[in-house]
This record gives sequence, C-alpha cells and structure tokens, in this order.
Amino acid sequence: MIMFLTKDQEEMLSGMKGEAIAKSMELIVKIGDVYNAKQLIPITNAQVAGVSYLTVGESIFSYFELLSKDAVKVKVPTWLNPAGMDMKKWKEMKISEDFAEKQLRIVNFYEGLGINPTLTCAPYLIGHTPSQGDHLAWSESSAVSIANSFYGARTNREGAPSSLASAITGLTANYGLHITENRNPRILVDVRTKLESFSDYSALGYWYGQKFHGSVPYFVNIQSLNINEAKMLAAALAASGSVALYHVKDLTPESKSIDTENVEEKIEFTESNKNEIYNHFNQINEGPDLVVIGCPHASHEDVKLISGILQSRQMKDGIEFWIFTSSKTKAAIDADSLLTNLESRGIKIYADTCMVVSPSVSENFQNIITNSTKAAHYLSKAKTTMVNLLPLDSIMKEVTE
Ligand code: F3S
Repeated sequence: MIMFLTKDQEEMLSGMKGEAIAKSMELIVKIGDVYNAKQLIPITNAQVAGVSYLTVGESIFSYFELLSKDAVKVKVPTWLNPAGMDMKKWKEMKISEDFAEKQLRIVNFYEGLGINPTLTCAPYLIGHTPSQGDHLAWSESSAVSIANSFYGARTNREGAPSSLASAITGLTANYGLHITENRNPRILVDVRTKLESFSDYSALGYWYGQKFHGSVPYFVNIQSLNINEAKMLAAALAASGSVALYHVKDLTPESKSIDTENVEEKIEFTESNKNEIYNHFNQINEGPDLVVIGCPHASHEDVKLISGILQSRQMKDGIEFWIFTSSKTKAAIDADSLLTNLESRGIKIYADTCMVVSPSVSENFQNIITNSTKAAHYLSKAKTTMVNLLPLDSIMKEVTE
C-alpha cells in the first residue's frame, strides 16, 4: 500500500526542512509502510523513552550529533521517561562519576530539543493526562497502556527513536491502536477472585500477559479501578505480554461501547491463578536487603499510604526501603511534610529514575521485595538478584516491628 503524504509532509521527508526532520520523517514513514498505514496523523503530545544511560549506551550520542546539525526542536509537548539516576542524589545511589556525566549529557540534550525533563514513566500523575480520542506517541509501555486504557487516548507502543521522531515532526503513522477496530477485545476475562491490593492487580496483569501475548482483554467483575490500581495492571500486562490496551467493564472509557459477542475466548482468573504469580516470584530464601516501591512511579497517594502504615511501626535494622517517583511528586510530598517524616524513618525517596533503569539496585542488592510484577520481572532477570512479590501490607509487616 502506498502511503498518502501531504505536500508539507513530502517537503519534510525530502530534506527541504532540514536533515533532522527528514530523518525523523523517514523513520515514521518506514514504520507506517511496514504496518500498511495509509497516512500520517497529527499527535497531541509525546513521551520519549531512551533516557537512561544504562539502557541506551554510547550509541545515543551519535544519534544526538545528527539531530544537532539543524538545531531542531520538538513540535508538540513532550515528556521524558526516567533516567538512570536521581539527578540530585546520584552519589547517594552509588552511581559512578562517569555514568553521571553521561546521564547529564543525555538529559541536557533532550532539554535542548525543548523536551520537558519530567523523567517519569507516569506523566499522567503530574498533570499530563491525555483526553479520550487524543492521538499520542508515547513509548514507556505502562504509560502507553494507561493512556489507551484508562484515558481512552490512542497510542502504539513507540520505540525511543520513533517517539522522538514523532515529537520532532508532530506526526505518527495511522495504524495499530490508532484505528478503532484494532481496539476491540479478543479475550473476556471473568475475574473470580478479589483484587485486594495493588499487587493483586499486578498479578492479574502478569498472569494474563503470559497467556495471551499482545491480545486486548476485556475484564469483567473488577469492582474498582482507580489510577493507582490501573497503573499496576497496565505495567504488568505490558511486562509479561506486551499488552498495550485493556478494557474493564463499566470502569474504562471505551468499555461501554464494546460488544463482547465476538470475543475469541472467555476465561476465568481465579484465586489459584493469582497465587501462581505470587509463587512464581517467591525466590528469596533469606531476609531481604532492599524493598522497592514505585513501579510504575509512586503517586502522592501511594506514598501517603506507606507513611500511614508507618505511623505505628518502626523499620527493622539492616533493610533499605526505597520509593521511586517523579521529582514533581517528590516536591509535593515534601510540601506536606511526608518526605521529612519518611526520611526520618530511614526510607529513601528517589526521583527521576527507578529500580530497573538505574544500575544502582541490581549492582548493590541481592534480595529484593517489591509489590510490582513488572519490577519483579526485570529484577529477577539480573543474575545477581532474587525477588519476592508481596502485597504492600505484607511488605510493611515483614520489614517493620
Ligand atoms: Fe516505570 Fe521503571 Fe517500572 S520506568 S514502569 S518504574 S520499570
């Protein structure tokens, strides 16, 4: 299929508007061709991954050189995914000078393109919420799923280069989840067990993703779906099954207009399925040395919850407790005194990064507890770390007295 390009788009592609714009257009058109897109469509905003030096490595700098030639800027509001370190507290995280210097260069370069250095995988928690029907180019997998599912916006899971190309051109190819028919569910999941904690939502997502890679689910019998529950479900579905959209009966915006007559399969998620996932991530034989919370990045409410549980308890000695969030959420936590309260109890709150994209966690800890299957999934891939998955309540009981 030949893609239709407007005159302006043809000029962008031909190099008339500079090499950086031409290279960006080339990439978007190439992707569109692969997926038989008929046209390019404008996007409202973009979220760019490829920020942590741990994940992008040296090769990012030659790409930056190419973009630097034209002093190009992004065309739409654009936000950045987490970096490989807390931009202020990197020394405390035992990040090397060399890593920090390269990480700073990467973030500075993106800022120079006009990108807002939010350094979070949850831009929707700090005011950047998409609207239903918006076309976006987001690249962090849990954020993509939240945008599609919880807000009813439309985005494929972009790679780091393609989200940047879309930010620079303001365009994406019209295929995949931008098209209404591709948003229909294929599997109906009757949730026959109670989802009582964030990690239960995470277990449901992880279980489904393992079984039905890439297929849109329609969940029934879920009683509540606030943003904190939704982000755990989204991250898990994406981590185990690259699922970028889910519907929940009566609770997600597109669910009401969905006809479930034509789903390919109907299945149940039971208590024993839920336990399978907790058992799968039950790897630690000795006491934990680190608790990590904030995958996806913790919200203000997540932190309040932890602070509330700690009111009547003390942290046990010898266990580090780290919460990952955005710098904006951290500032809000600071403003209402939660930060001082938590820090005085030995809890560390790091901004701009996370347990997976920073080398700090896997290089310095062996036995880790978390309430997120996504964090557990990636941390358990590192040969040096073992992980337990537990609900937040149980974690707090285990690490406090
Ligand atoms: Fe976010 Fe890192 Fe988890 S980017 S979704 S906290 S792996």
